[in-house]
Amino acid sequence: MPIAYNQRTCYCGQVGPHQAGQSVIVAGWVHNRRDHGGMVFIDLRDREGLVQLKFNPETDPKAHETAGKLRSEFCVCVRGDVALRPQSMINPKMRTGTVEINVHEIDILSASETPRFMVEDEINVNDELRLEYRFLDLRRPTMQKSLITRHRAVKIIRDYFNDQGFIEIETPFLTKSTPEGARDFLVPSRKQPGMFYALPQSPQLFKQLLMMSGFDKYMQIVRCFRDEDSRKDRQPEFTQLDVEMSFVQVDDVLNVAEGYLVRVWKEILGVDVPRPFVRMSYQNAMDDYGIDRPDTRYDLRIKDVTAVCRKTEFKIFTGAIEKGGVVRCIRVPGGADMSQNEIEKADNSLQNILKGIGAGGLPYVKVDVAQPPSAGSSQPGAAVPYALKTGVAKFFSPELTAELCAATGAQAGDALFFAADTIDNVCKYLARLREEVARRRNLIPAGLWNFLWVIDFPLLEHHAEDNRYYAVHHPFTSPMDEDVHLLESDPLKARAKAYDVVVNGVELAGGSIRIHRADVQSKIFKLLSLTPEEAELKFGFLLKALRHGPPPHGGFAMGVDRLVMLLCGLDSLQDTFSFPKTAEGYCPMTVAPSPVDQKQLDELSIRLAPSVKK
Ligand code: AMO
Ligand code: AMP
Repeated sequence: MPIAYNQRTCYCGQVGPHQAGQSVIVAGWVHNRRDHGGMVFIDLRDREGLVQLKFNPETDPKAHETAGKLRSEFCVCVRGDVALRPQSMINPKMRTGTVEINVHEIDILSASETPRFMVEDEINVNDELRLEYRFLDLRRPTMQKSLITRHRAVKIIRDYFNDQGFIEIETPFLTKSTPEGARDFLVPSRKQPGMFYALPQSPQLFKQLLMMSGFDKYMQIVRCFRDEDSRKDRQPEFTQLDVEMSFVQVDDVLNVAEGYLVRVWKEILGVDVPRPFVRMSYQNAMDDYGIDRPDTRYDLRIKDVTAVCRKTEFKIFTGAIEKGGVVRCIRVPGGADMSQNEIEKADNSLQNILKGIGAGGLPYVKVDVAQPPSAGSSQPGAAVPYALKTGVAKFFSPELTAELCAATGAQAGDALFFAADTIDNVCKYLARLREEVARRRNLIPAGLWNFLWVIDFPLLEHHAEDNRYYAVHHPFTSPMDEDVHLLESDPLKARAKAYDVVVNGVELAGGSIRIHRADVQSKIFKLLSLTPEEAELKFGFLLKALRHGPPPHGGFAMGVDRLVMLLCGLDSLQDTFSFPKTAEGYCPMTVAPSPVDQKQLDELSIRLAPSVKK
């Protein structure tokens, strides 16, 4: 009689000393097999972990014989007795390490080909192979933990928002594009040849329309689609917690978002996150950290040294300043111990990393204790405590050295790294440098969670390429009341009622109070270079709704994948998805995207360009 696998008594990973002497049925996958002079040991794995099975040829010859046939990843079911392991055999690294199961019966439920990689956390396998065999990859403990944590975080979302009176409402996937700034994925219409739906980059306009429909508090856990280059923290389809509320001001929305984050950190990690979260203005973030999602777990703040560097004769500095740029730097405490190799020679030197993102080089100096002034030459004002060496030190006179050290707080033993260029480029280079230096020099404290609201974003930015304004968040973001008049006089100065949640340098969520007046919305469309006709064509439905008694409203969206990445301490967003895409937007398991039949193309009235290879 086969073992009734549907009458499993517990998960492998949950067998414990409290069951000693009891008969159990467990099922799972063969993790490994060890033959010890007659005795066979198997580690059996299921989603909760591993348990050791012991096969004794004396007492259970039939089971022992079957155990000899087992190979990695065979799926089996066993019946046996739980026994405490002898003291010397206890494995403290295993949750079930104090017990084992003496197996009396075993059934092989299915065999496995030799797996292409070991189902273990420490594997050195390229992404493509992992994704091709995702069903094996997902058997690894970190992946099981990731998807289970994802489930728990989403469950807490539904509980929390339900408790707060939110209603979950689904919005369409086959829709008209809303401009979120990325490229749309398009879906051709068969019934209307030549017409296309777009998959939503977010339900932004639908959720605003739901506020205009009177739902007051909306939430949805929703898939979003953006055709952008995948990166470490991006996937072409990803999941948002999407929220919108009526009759609210900025603080009300921030409160709701904070409440959820505090709860999920407590329930999943047992961490108490202090409230309210720190708030930092966009300007402050850019000035001090060079980026709008600063990682404030470590200092390395950026200092502006344009005033000092203007007085040097170093052409890279003076040239950048003459063109209207700035010189800024990062002080690395104790950085004088960094080798030339690390700074500028090695392939992965700091300089080469910055060159990779467009910098011309990486000027730097090291700070040393100055030689005491020789007797006789001593005069007031000559008490310069520091001297500079290496790099661009020769461009700093003792006076400029003193000024530089005062401006940066540099002390003997430090290194200063400079960037001289347009403000935007300087921010980009130094933000990257901060991250790299912090990582290399282990400046990031373990176990620290820095939650931050970045606020006071500008409403608009100007792009030189096409000489026009773009919305920093999206075109439906409300300007601050006191800045509305700037839309006429100085639009780039207008600030938005927008906010982002940043956690340890990851942009986790973002949102805003929306425009709820048709005239202000039309003004913004005009600033964004949309003619009234274009605005009507693209957003007529919104403008129409805005003319029918819209409530003031606002909300936010949180990246669920990024949330799970943070909660599980994962490096890669990919590991939070069940079946993600590679950086090229490719699924090696199902082989998607893939060609389709000519018949399907014909039905859609689509002809491929001759350049497309069959
Ligand atoms: P936004 O575009 O800032 O705002 O997106 C909100 C959050 O979604 C996550 N996110 C992503 N996660 C993974 N892969 C991606 N490609 C990706 N793009 C975004 C981030 C981000 O903070 N409708 C507005 C929100 C609003 O105004 O209410 C929106 O979509 O965590
Ligand atoms: P050099 O004069 O070429 O020896 O360079 C002196 C320092 O300036 C080095 O640290 C270079 O990394 C840096 N540097 C050289 N060219 C540039 C540039 N175009 N932009 C920024 N830094 C540069």
